[in-house]
Amino acid sequence: MAPTVHPEIWPRLTSPIASDPELERRVEEILAAMSLEAKVGQVIQAEINSITPKEIRRYRIGSVLNGGGGWPWEQKGSTPEDWLRMADGFWGASMDVPQGEPAIPILWGLDAVHGHNNVIGATLFPHNIGLGAANNPDLIRDIGRATAREVAATGQDWDFGPTVAVALDDRWGRTYESYSEDPEIVKANAAAMVEGLQGVVGSEDFLGDEQLIATAKHFIGDGGTDRGVDQGDTRTTEEDLRDIHGAGYVTALDAGVQTVMASFSSWHGRRMHGFSELLIGVLKQQLGFDGFVVGDWNAHGQVPGCSNGNCPAAFNAGIDMFMVPRDWKALYKNTLSQVESGEISQERLDDAVRRILRVKMRAGLFERGKPSRRPLARQPGIIGSAAHREVARRAVRESLVLLKNNGGILPLAPGSHVLVAGDGADNITKQSGGWTITWQGTGNSNEEFPGATSIWDGIRKVVDTAGGTASLSPKGRFKEKPDVAIVVFGEDPYAEFQGDRDTIDYSPRSDRDLDLLRKLQGEGIPVVSVFITGRPLWVNPELNASDAFVVAWLPGTEGVGVADVLFANGDGAIRHDFKGRLSFSWPKSVDQVVLNWGDEDYDPLFAFGYGLTYAETAELGSQSEEKAAVELASRTIYFEGGPVAPWELYLGVAEDPAVEAGTGRVATSGPNPIVIRAVDRRRQEDARAVEWPGEVAGRVYLKAENPVDLSRESNGGMVLAFDILVEKPPSGQVELAMGWGGERSAEVDLTATLAGLADGDWQTLLVPLRCYADAGADMSQIDTPFSLSTDGELAIRFSDVRLATVAEEGILCP
Ligand code: BGC
Ligand code: BGC
Repeated sequence: MAPTVHPEIWPRLTSPIASDPELERRVEEILAAMSLEAKVGQVIQAEINSITPKEIRRYRIGSVLNGGGGWPWEQKGSTPEDWLRMADGFWGASMDVPQGEPAIPILWGLDAVHGHNNVIGATLFPHNIGLGAANNPDLIRDIGRATAREVAATGQDWDFGPTVAVALDDRWGRTYESYSEDPEIVKANAAAMVEGLQGVVGSEDFLGDEQLIATAKHFIGDGGTDRGVDQGDTRTTEEDLRDIHGAGYVTALDAGVQTVMASFSSWHGRRMHGFSELLIGVLKQQLGFDGFVVGDWNAHGQVPGCSNGNCPAAFNAGIDMFMVPRDWKALYKNTLSQVESGEISQERLDDAVRRILRVKMRAGLFERGKPSRRPLARQPGIIGSAAHREVARRAVRESLVLLKNNGGILPLAPGSHVLVAGDGADNITKQSGGWTITWQGTGNSNEEFPGATSIWDGIRKVVDTAGGTASLSPKGRFKEKPDVAIVVFGEDPYAEFQGDRDTIDYSPRSDRDLDLLRKLQGEGIPVVSVFITGRPLWVNPELNASDAFVVAWLPGTEGVGVADVLFANGDGAIRHDFKGRLSFSWPKSVDQVVLNWGDEDYDPLFAFGYGLTYAETAELGSQSEEKAAVELASRTIYFEGGPVAPWELYLGVAEDPAVEAGTGRVATSGPNPIVIRAVDRRRQEDARAVEWPGEVAGRVYLKAENPVDLSRESNGGMVLAFDILVEKPPSGQVELAMGWGGERSAEVDLTATLAGLADGDWQTLLVPLRCYADAGADMSQIDTPFSLSTDGELAIRFSDVRLATVAEEGILCP
């Protein structure tokens, strides 16, 4: 049970924006003229491709959002004009009201968490972890301003940022969205970001045409969950909740942040979306917050007794606006009837609507007019402007942290022969991380970043200009031995829970990068490592195999900022020195999974605040490469080459006990058995062929003893993906099931889909996880993620069974 909350031990704050009697009078006037239906519509936020302008007009919806990878009409290539056209449609619908009803402009929110990151061509800044290393509030203010301008140029009004999480366990997949493990750094930078996005309270341009409404998120304790599990449980004392996880809210509120997003996470097992003592007692009362609280993506559906389409408990606990991407209509109807029945009081509804109207009014929404007619929308060239890119490039320079520079090998002479290697060298996708065009930041190519520079682009430019030679070879090949090799490698993009890790070992499954470093060093070439990462990771072997080691974090689109610092001028003079300092402690051993400044027995490899400059000489000795083997259980990859541990492949028929299917041929008993055998697809025996003779009903399935919780994965655009080749089309019904609790399962019918695939080619099938959730599966304890069955005839081959994200929504349950 969650402990009792004591609001009186939290700081007593008042809104920095003095209550404006004229504004409050207008709010009351509008409120009084609104129908009950219109009020309920205000508290609903739907996803842009899951609602039409017609529906917005009909239900008087208050807000829309696009999530990560949400684009107008699901078109990745949407131009600023497309974004404006969609914004105009929504805005027009919200202003088109029946006679006598007040027109309330709609509010469109999005995650511009490192620039306007859903839009092709936007300037992308380093993710927060890099900004924490730069720790320069003036710089962050400039970034906020540039972000606000780019978003305003495409017609949106509201940013779901900054994240003010204090990430304490770096296995968390959102560590890079946190400025620091240290509340002081979070405090300073969160406030500066709010000021950059919204403008400074009391100044002329506060919430003006070039600014956005900001959001402090995710209230509260998101960075403190047990084992760093995303959306998990934070088990701290109330004092730590206040002093560590609450620190950023105090300064963000003081800077006038107008919205706060509630957290998916829990405190001592109680979901934040149902936690009235914290949302109302602490945030709205003690901390004096007079803006509104927005829920997170269907997070209300996780409150006990709730579903995505029904949740009076969250509203009564203080959520003022539901983020309900797809199930908005059901939620609207249920909320309306709950107000009518008194389960939600009229006062609570009025309080929420009053807060939303207040924020809309403060932000000038009632006066802003049609999105495409606003000042920045009419000005071309705002998206990805040279001025904004210059700010981002400066941020890249200031965020780099130098961990090792043995023999003072850096700065490099630009006139030398430089080999640039590693899969991150010419890879803007990788250097940008998650929340980049797509939600996970995957599936993008360099061409989709017009105007951007990769790290290689920057190096080539300096070296070419100085008359040296630079060559690019991701695998580290060269004809003429280089004077130095710069190797760019690190984490591939991820977002949210997809980035949760079991270990802080950088590369537990592969030595690919390490082999490259060692190969180059073995050839007597000095090696400079540039490490792309969303968090500190154990890299002792890679450190040992490098002469210099630079942490670049996730720098974004201005990769050129890296070369600015790595290279001196032709005359040897330093162009830009290192300024970044670790805002997260760096581990010495793999078991230091929770490592924070101020810990008892604090023993990092590089302490919080560490970072060399060119003025310092420090030789780093060889570090221990010893590590205990960790057992890595795959949550998301079930079959790749063969079943991936802990998953095992079985063949089962009703009468017989299931048999485990290894690589040999396995068959059920009887004269006409179901047969499974290993076959070659890309490599030896990396796929399986299954034949059902049509005489017995049976299934082939992947199962593990311990179930996995896929409820988070089923709350978005994630799919079960597998490759299949149909050799003989089905003669009976085919079902693809997910199972839980040993025995229970939910099915989707694949008969028609497989019948349509019978052309002898490999195809990838994508089945949205929500199909199973909708079919009643308990997604929190899946032990059988893949089970293909039929009672008819069928022959197929399959491989690569895994969870995947698809950028485009809209694949329907078969
Ligand atoms: C994330 C939020 C984000 C929202 C909208 C959620 O899954 O937790 O940080 O603002 O999605 O994309
Ligand atoms: C959305 C994200 C959201 C996530 C939640 C995705 O489909 O694009 O913005 O945070 O679902 O699971």
